[in-house]
Amino acid sequence: MSSLSVDHVLGIKDLTKEDLELIFKTADNFKDVLNRPIKKVPSLRDITVANLFFENSTRTRLSFELAEKRLSADVINFSAASSSVKKGETLIDTVNNILAMKVDLVVMRHPNAGAAQFLSKNVDARIVNAGDGAHEHPTQALLDTFSIREKLGKVKGVKVLIVGDILHSRVALSNIFALQKLGAEVKLCGPRTLMPKHIESLGVKVEYDLRKGLEWCDVANMLRIQLERQDIKYFPSLREYTMMYGLDLELLNSLSKKIVIMHPGPINRGVEISSDIADSEHAIILDQVENGVAIRMAVLYLLAEKIDRQ
Ligand code: CP
Repeated sequence: MSSLSVDHVLGIKDLTKEDLELIFKTADNFKDVLNRPIKKVPSLRDITVANLFFENSTRTRLSFELAEKRLSADVINFSAASSSVKKGETLIDTVNNILAMKVDLVVMRHPNAGAAQFLSKNVDARIVNAGDGAHEHPTQALLDTFSIREKLGKVKGVKVLIVGDILHSRVALSNIFALQKLGAEVKLCGPRTLMPKHIESLGVKVEYDLRKGLEWCDVANMLRIQLERQDIKYFPSLREYTMMYGLDLELLNSLSKKIVIMHPGPINRGVEISSDIADSEHAIILDQVENGVAIRMAVLYLLAEKIDRQ
């Protein structure tokens, strides 16, 4: 297979196992490019990409922008905080005005679940979801599973524990879909109040005891508490959360085997993960960030192949 089965990358749920493998194979090639002295290729030279960020971002925004520039695309950046959205303009009007400037590809982060899908049905451009509310964050899950494949040599059969605020996490949902499509086993761990009801119907197991979960897994993906999406209190205090679900070196060193530690960022040091682990050889957090550029280059390249450039 040499092309994606989809016209937009809105969520991992829509992608096939073959799509994921094609993205990884393409990202392998781009990772080689990124390690060369000249890190740029002309693949998207006649393509214009708009990065529309209606919600804060550091890693995803910079990683997409760098990926686009490495592919020689023309890039425009939009941040809602400094735009006419503040004057009441709708999402469709904003995007149509940007598309009138002859944009081919749109990368969008939005606080509302379903925003990227809505856009894909209403505008004539290829859309990449860079995170929509608590729904999906497909390129994060792609770079996470790609990083597991790089570190352990495979994804199939790997036991992955996702720890933290599962209820509000688009990273958790996209990771569940990606890991399962590639044959990994997934277990979720966190407070009952932050565990979605009926989550087992997705084929995952739930473990409320962090130590037991860590003893089971090969990889632990430690998620941030998404305080910005919590309108009520889900646990007594951050201190109590850390006591029950925070990972520190003492706990890690007490396990009967070595495990790989991941985090999608941004990290809240001393809450879900201690600094001595985040900065240790156990963690592949910065490898994840590095791989994000190659993965996003692959996604943009494969979607651009579907654009009629005549
Ligand atoms: N991992 C992630 O999405 O980080 P940002 O919010 O900084 O983009």
